[in-house]
Amino acid sequence: MRIGVPLETRPGETRVAATPETVKKLISQGHQFIIQSGAGNGASVPDSAYEAVGATIGSAADAFAAEMVLKVRSPQADELKQIKSGTVLIGMLDPFDNEAIAAMASQGITAFALEAAPRTTRAQSMDVLSSQANIAGYKAVMIAANEYQRFMPMLMTAAGTVKAARILILGAGVAGLQAIATAKRLGAVIEASDVRPAAKEQIESLGAKFVDVPYETDEEREIAKGVGGYARPMPESWMKRQAALVAERAMQADIVIATALIPGRKPPVLLHSETVMKMKPGSVVIDLAAGRGENGSGNCPLTRADQIVDANGVKIVGHTNLPSMVAADASALYARNVLDFMKLIINKEAQLAIPAAADDDIVAACLMCRDGQAVRKN
Ligand code: NAI
Repeated sequence: MRIGVPLETRPGETRVAATPETVKKLISQGHQFIIQSGAGNGASVPDSAYEAVGATIGSAADAFAAEMVLKVRSPQADELKQIKSGTVLIGMLDPFDNEAIAAMASQGITAFALEAAPRTTRAQSMDVLSSQANIAGYKAVMIAANEYQRFMPMLMTAAGTVKAARILILGAGVAGLQAIATAKRLGAVIEASDVRPAAKEQIESLGAKFVDVPYETDEEREIAKGVGGYARPMPESWMKRQAALVAERAMQADIVIATALIPGRKPPVLLHSETVMKMKPGSVVIDLAAGRGENGSGNCPLTRADQIVDANGVKIVGHTNLPSMVAADASALYARNVLDFMKLIINKEAQLAIPAAADDDIVAACLMCRDGQAVRKN
């Protein structure tokens, strides 16, 4: 099969959907690759590295004209126009964006959005949300360390003792847990909160303190379990108690890293504006949900997408694409996720063989549109 890899065009997007490692494997299985010139530059992969493993370098039009197109982000209108009917497209295609799915369907594309893969053991190796959130959690701590004007670890020096930074992590999923592990290595003192009961043990096993907001009703307890590994919106009563506790903990913290998401919905507001106003000057907030809430906000209403806001001396960092700041490793992991997904829809003869929905739950979950029809129902 002819597989194309275009250069990503969304602002700030530096990742690439295939690396020389994955290209080499697929070429050895009988596929051909056409890589748009410069597609790997943002991830430190020059054209020559793709050529060395047997790929051809070409234009955007060449890459989009392939039978299968591998992308990181969903195609923008001008990219979509270049993809011909019948092409198979794989990427992070925003499965909750009905308009985008309809546009891909009307173009006659068969599109797979990898974010929609189920949270099952078999799907783990193609779980793009995990591979990229892991990187975001790490980078959030690196950025916090950079923006914070004090040390992370406790230090005893001849000039006196420096206290360890106190970090509060809101949302302890993949990103939050990696943030805990990374901050721990830097010597910070960490507290973390999550709505899912399973998070308590995970937080504590990484050496952080669990900020407990006890459930008071069966409804709260039931909703907190989430669905498919994901959180659900918690009842107002619990959110209020959580806000009060977060306010108390945030006032003691030097750094807050907020990572809470609920699939297909606006992110929950966990760090209220009034709380930020009471935080210590010089504190830093890294909001990984930036850009997903109202007016570009995230878990904090004061966050603005891709800006660093100064709120009463508190820096609120709203980068929306942290994995792109670690583009080489983010691409390496993403490309392996893509490769593993491709194994489900390509047979041993290197031909496209998409299994029926009933035969493969991962393929069924990721399929957004086929033969001009939107398949995904949100
Ligand atoms: P996510 O990115 O959708 O959300 C991040 C975190 O925010 C989650 O832990 C969620 O519970 C939390 N959150 C949502 N609302 C909150 C609130 N009001 N207050 C505090 N926290 C809130 O989730 P992510 O990180 O993609 O995955 C969550 C969990 O899914 C993982 O920790 C893991 O247990 C499970 N998982 C399972 C996999 C598998 O079995 N193959 C693979 C990946 C994750």
